[in-house]
Amino acid sequence: MVTGSSQRPGIFAVRDVRSLISETTEEGHGLRKAVGATQLTAMGVGAIIGTGIFVVIGEGAAVAGPAVIVSFVLAAVACTFSALSYAELASSIPVSGSAYTYTYATLGEIVAWIIGWDLILEYGVSVAAIAVGWGGNLNAFLDAAFGVSLPDAIAKSPEDGGIFNLPAVFIVLAITFLLVRGVTESARVNLVMVGVKLTVLLFFIVVAFFNFGTGNFHPFAPSGVDGVTSAAAIIFFAYIGFDAVSTGSEEARNPAKDLPLAIIGSLVICTIFYVLTAVGAIGIATPAQLESSDAPLAAALDQGAGISWAASILSLGAVVAITSVVLVILYGQTRIFFAMCRDGLLPQRLATVNQRYGTPARLTIGLGVLIAILAALVPLSAIVKLVNIGTLFAFVLVNIGVIILRRTRPEMPRPYRVPWSPVLPILGVLFAIYLMSDLPLSTWIRFVVWLIVGLAIYALYGFRHSRLRLRAAAAAADDGTPDAPTEQPR
Ligand code: ALA
Repeated sequence: MVTGSSQRPGIFAVRDVRSLISETTEEGHGLRKAVGATQLTAMGVGAIIGTGIFVVIGEGAAVAGPAVIVSFVLAAVACTFSALSYAELASSIPVSGSAYTYTYATLGEIVAWIIGWDLILEYGVSVAAIAVGWGGNLNAFLDAAFGVSLPDAIAKSPEDGGIFNLPAVFIVLAITFLLVRGVTESARVNLVMVGVKLTVLLFFIVVAFFNFGTGNFHPFAPSGVDGVTSAAAIIFFAYIGFDAVSTGSEEARNPAKDLPLAIIGSLVICTIFYVLTAVGAIGIATPAQLESSDAPLAAALDQGAGISWAASILSLGAVVAITSVVLVILYGQTRIFFAMCRDGLLPQRLATVNQRYGTPARLTIGLGVLIAILAALVPLSAIVKLVNIGTLFAFVLVNIGVIILRRTRPEMPRPYRVPWSPVLPILGVLFAIYLMSDLPLSTWIRFVVWLIVGLAIYALYGFRHSRLRLRAAAAAADDGTPDAPTEQPR
């Protein structure tokens, strides 16, 4: 019987990698291994290409001018270093939970909790915002194609002059239903949607290059290097999602080979599409035209190139593209939550797998409903930067995790290793901090408040219910030792 916290390991207790992996095969707690390399890559592309390229590119062009093209390259380079670290950790620790689980195995419980809480920002909160963007694009398409649109009262949040956002609620609940049915079905639907959105972006690139002019490229960087880096910190949002592949690692059939391939492959595919799209957009529209629209690429075709039929195809494409982002990011959120519940940092009874579907159905429905409520009421503004800072913070910890684990567990099998470690992980940390430093003070304040709320929840719940600490404390009580060891001494 555990009576006092003095008998428990500290808040920096570290999970053992072997026990993490073996736990995934426990009765009722293991997820079905059903996903292959193509599906994983599609999962990455599905999470990556969405609101960023279809909407946020406008704000990027406003900040950097035509040099937003360089910002896209800069953000991709920043992501690449962290992607390599994600690949190493995901292939070595193929367990649900992504950065949360890796940190638990490297930096300890309290840091894992912070990152898990941070990932709720990246995944859960952003799903609500992305769903709002989906609703806006749907309305734009209905308007462009049929001349009808939903009234503001049921299509906007209170802050934007409506009552609640029905389309946003609809898409979150529809995707929740898909995820409850099973990951194989969901991945199949995702594959189709990814095909559609790549085709739509290709369509944009081809139309833009047929109407291309060089007039909009001067001046190329009106706000100089500062403008380019600030825009990179904003359009970084467009790259978020490759890490979502790692949240599904527990369900991967061959994590050693498929995870690195999918993480890096999806990033490369998206970078090529983004740079070509940005060049094409500036080739047919001015940064001011891109900035002034909620659907900048459609506006570029409509106002810049004067091809309105192409604009309606594009807005429909944006709806499809954003659908798959909602799917993959919500999927990622359920898996991270699953891992946190399984560890007792959140209520453990939620971490059960539905026998019929092989998915964490109860937890998925609960999260879906919460996010739908948020989506009904939340406005889009400022969320992008908040999501960015949270994600960049996760990148910092993941890169540090690679360096630490190489030292503390050198013998651990690593199916994929980051080349030139620790140089590349350190570059990953520096790039992430650099982009974070370019985000405004208001974003930093919101982020710090979010983390403080998270720490309070840990103090009140996770600290008392942590499975790792409770088990170690019980073992110590049995042994009669005053201080229990961590699962993995450091
Ligand atoms: N990268 C994702 C998007 O652009 C979050 O929507």
